[in-house]
Amino acid sequence: MAGDKVVDTKGLLGWIDHRFPASKLWKEHLSEYYAPKNFNFWYFFGSLALLVLVIQIVTGIFMVMHYKPDADLAFASVEYIMREVPYGWIIRYMHSTGASMFFVVVYLHMLRGMLYGSYRKPRELVWIFGVAIFLCLMAEAFFGYLLPWGQMSFWGAQVIVNLFSAIPFVGEGLSVWIRGDFVVSDATLNRFFAFHVIAIPLVLIGLIVAHIIALHEVGSNNPDGIEIKAKKDANGRPLDGIPFHPYYSVHDLVGVAGFLIVFAAIMFFAPTMGGYFLESNNFLPADPFKTPPHIAPVWYFTPFYSMLRATTDEFTWALVAFALLFAVGIFFSKNVKAPWKLIFPAILVAVAVALRVFDAKFWGVVVMGGTVVILGFLPWLDKSPVKSIRYRPGWHKLVYAIFMINFVILGIIGTKAPSPVLNIVSQVGTIVYLAFFFFMPIWSRLGTFKQVPERVTYHPH
Ligand code: HEM
Repeated sequence: MAGDKVVDTKGLLGWIDHRFPASKLWKEHLSEYYAPKNFNFWYFFGSLALLVLVIQIVTGIFMVMHYKPDADLAFASVEYIMREVPYGWIIRYMHSTGASMFFVVVYLHMLRGMLYGSYRKPRELVWIFGVAIFLCLMAEAFFGYLLPWGQMSFWGAQVIVNLFSAIPFVGEGLSVWIRGDFVVSDATLNRFFAFHVIAIPLVLIGLIVAHIIALHEVGSNNPDGIEIKAKKDANGRPLDGIPFHPYYSVHDLVGVAGFLIVFAAIMFFAPTMGGYFLESNNFLPADPFKTPPHIAPVWYFTPFYSMLRATTDEFTWALVAFALLFAVGIFFSKNVKAPWKLIFPAILVAVAVALRVFDAKFWGVVVMGGTVVILGFLPWLDKSPVKSIRYRPGWHKLVYAIFMINFVILGIIGTKAPSPVLNIVSQVGTIVYLAFFFFMPIWSRLGTFKQVPERVTYHPH
C-alpha cells in the first residue's frame, strides 16, 4: 500500500501506483522535471549517450549469441558473424560504430559541461559521476577491443597491460595477475570477455543512474549558467523552466534523428572510417610471433596515449621544473591558507624528487592516468565568478580554444608512429594540457567578466 500518500490514478496504473511509484517517478523525472527553457543543441548529447548505450547493449547481446571467447575460435567467430549470421554484419558494424560514436558523443557532452561550467556547485557530484563513467567507458572499450582477437587487439592489450609492470615493486606481479599468464593469452581473453559483457556494463549502468539522479536532485544547468530555481512562480515552479516531457522529449528526437543519419551513413558507407573506427591490422588474426610495425590504440584513447609517450626521461626534468615552480607559486600565494601553504609545496617537492627516482615509464602511466583523473577536480579548480563561457572575458574563450585544439593535436600525434619532432610537439602539448588545469585557479578568476542577466536569455523561434 502507498500508506498515507494520495495516489489519484485508477485502473491498472492505480493498481501499480499503490505498489510501485510509477506515476511519481514519471512526474519527478519527466512530466514535472522543470528544465531551463534555453537549452541548445549541446544538450542533445546526454540523451544521445543514453541512446548509444542502448544500441551497444542490444547489439552486444546479439553478438554474444554467436561470439566464442576462446583464443582458437574468437577471430573466426567474428568472421562468422560478419558472413554467415543473418544480419550479423549490421549488428557488428552497429556495435563497432557505436563504440566510436559513444566517445564522440561523450567528448562533446563533457565539452558542453566545461563551456557552461556545469560542474560547478551544486553539480559537483553530477560531474564526478560523469568522470567515473568516462573511466568505465574507457575500460569497457579496452576490454572489448581484445575480443575480435585480431593483431591490434592482441598487441594493443599487450602494450597496455605491460604498462602496469612499470609500477614500482608490485608492477611485474600485477601485470601477470591482470593477464592471468605471462603473455596475453586465452586466460586474458576469457577474463576480458567477462569484464566487457557483464562487470563493467553493470557498473556503468549504476553510475549512469546515479549521474541522472544527482542531476535531477539539483536541476539542470543551461547555456547562461543561471540557476533557474532562484526565481519561482506561486506554485514553486521555476519561471524559466519547462517540463522535460513533452518539450525536451520531443526536442531530443530532433537530435536522435540527426544522430541516426550520421550513424547510418558511417555504418553503411564507411564502417572502418579509414582505419580510425576499425583498424586494418585487426582484420588479421592475432599472431603472438609477429609484432605489427606500428601499434596505436583506437582514436579515442590517442590524446592520453600521446601524453604517455611524451613522458620520456628528459621530459621528467620538465615535470620536475613544473612541480617546483608550482610549489613556489603556492607558497607565495595569498589565496592558500596556513597549513596548506606548507603541505602542498612539501608534496610537490616530494613528487619532484620521486620524478627522478622512479623510471620514466612509470611516470608515463601516472601522467596518462592523472590527465583523466584531473578532470574530476574541475569543480574546485575553476574559480571564475561566472559559470558560463558566455559571460567570461574574451581571452578565456581563447584559452578554451587552445585547450581543445591542443587535445585534438595530441590525439592526432597518438595515431602516428613516434618521431623526434612529434615527440617534442606531444611534450609541449602535455605541458599545455597540464598547465590548463594546474593554473586554472589563477587564470580563471582574471579578466573583466560580463554581467550575468537575472533571467535566462531565450529567443522563441
Ligand atoms: C554514458 C555516458 C553518459 C550518459 C548516458 C550521460 C547522460 C546524461 C544525461 C541524460 C544528462 C541530462 C541531459 C543533458 O544535460 O545533456 C546529463 C547531464 C550531464 N552530464 Fe552526463 N552522461 C554521460 C557521461 C558524462 C560524462 C563523461 C560527464 C563528465 C565528465 C558528464 C557530465 C554531465 C554534466 C555536468 C551534466 C549536467 C549538464 C547541465 O546541466 O548543463 N556526463 N548526462
